[in-house]
Amino acid sequence: MPSWEELEQRCRACRGCGLCAGRHHVVVGVGNREAQIMLVGEGPGEQEDLTGEPFVGAAGRLLDEMLCIIDLDRRRNVYIANIVKCRPPGNRDPKPEEQEACIGLLREQIALVQPKLLVCLGRIAATRLIREDFRITREHGAWQERDGRWLTAIYHPSALLRDESKRPDTFRDLLAIRAKAQELGIL
Ligand code: URA
Repeated sequence: MPSWEELEQRCRACRGCGLCAGRHHVVVGVGNREAQIMLVGEGPGEQEDLTGEPFVGAAGRLLDEMLCIIDLDRRRNVYIANIVKCRPPGNRDPKPEEQEACIGLLREQIALVQPKLLVCLGRIAATRLIREDFRITREHGAWQERDGRWLTAIYHPSALLRDESKRPDTFRDLLAIRAKAQELGIL
């Protein structure tokens, strides 16, 4: 198992796909490295690329509010990362080959954090980490246990900014995440 320092260094030096060409920062992750809860988004946007921190733009501000509702805080008790660590141009979805090039680094991060609960933010993370044919509209909020770890997915905060009608479902999913964390004794 690599140390955090070694892993971060490899992330920052990575040239594993074309996204490295346009980046300002490699966005590795943020939060408590010993958190029991980990969240995984899709990939950095413009603000994240400029600052080097995940979820700092409009979607990030909404994510912070969502976390606050269930007593979570990005610096205290969660760790947040993305499927890809460099910004896809124009905020397009990361291509399968870009995801493939980056997923190993994320898996190493997950192995270092060892979260008991892993929350996928949106379709891209869910199809990568839960199941290839995961349908976010039908399966958000569903739980599955894998190797002693609980996995779920909720709508991506950007989707909630675009479509407010998804917010009540997400509120329920958030409450279920808190309940699961309490049941597991980690919140
Ligand atoms: N959207 C994501 O999926 N991740 C970020 O870090 C920012 C926006």
